[in-house]
Amino acid sequence: MTDAIIVENIFKKFETVPSVSGVSFNIRKGELFGFLGPNGAGKTTTINMLTGLARPDSGTIKIGGIDCTKNPRAALHLIGVVPDESNLYPELTGFDNLCFCAALFGMGKKERRTRAGELLKTFDLAKAADRKFGGYSKGMKRKLTIAAGMIHRPDILFLDEPTTGIDVAAPGNCGKSSKPCTGPGPLFF
Ligand SMILES: Nc1ncnc2c1ncn2[C@@H]1O[C@H](COP(=O)(O)OP(=O)(O)OP(=O)(O)O)[C@@H](O)[C@H]1O
Ligand SMILES: [Mg+2]
Repeated sequence: MTDAIIVENIFKKFETVPSVSGVSFNIRKGELFGFLGPNGAGKTTTINMLTGLARPDSGTIKIGGIDCTKNPRAALHLIGVVPDESNLYPELTGFDNLCFCAALFGMGKKERRTRAGELLKTFDLAKAADRKFGGYSKGMKRKLTIAAGMIHRPDILFLDEPTTGIDVAAPGNCGKSSKPCTGPGPLFF
């Protein structure tokens, strides 16, 4: 099976603090890959390097066959990112937040409304679709943030601490919804 993600010996330091030291792994298409470690181990920094938010000091990163070492943003079209802290707008409703994210990926009006409705239903948030995101509970915020990361049906989905604060059924919904949208792509968290 083809490797969707190849990471070879990546290092990252912040001033004198080593954050990631010599991490290597391969993730195949269709694989669900969990990345565990204690606080401060470098999980978020690794995800940031894989998703174009940080550049490794050395080492190689390939996403979907694209070498992202020199250009960390070269494979952005293939990936969805769910950060550990929500990046959504508190003043917008759940529905409008998803439509806004969809617009950033160039989706047309009809398509973004359909996709937003579909994801709200999948994550059991349809009843809260017209409520402001700022008033959502912690778990509801987490679920909408995950839905936003999947809005453009990415091949590869990166989730940083995806299950924090959400009910037991929600990770299953994420998996269910990711299949039709990620196809053979892996989930990384
Ligand atoms: N922007 C930054 N500036 C300085 N140091 C940083 C920065 N980002 C991360 N670090 C340091 O790099 C190390 C790894 O941090 P990182 O956030 O990647 O850990 P983590 O495994 O995600 O931890 P957690 O489980 O707490 O989320 C820590 O020592 C952290 O303080
Ligand atoms: Mg982290």
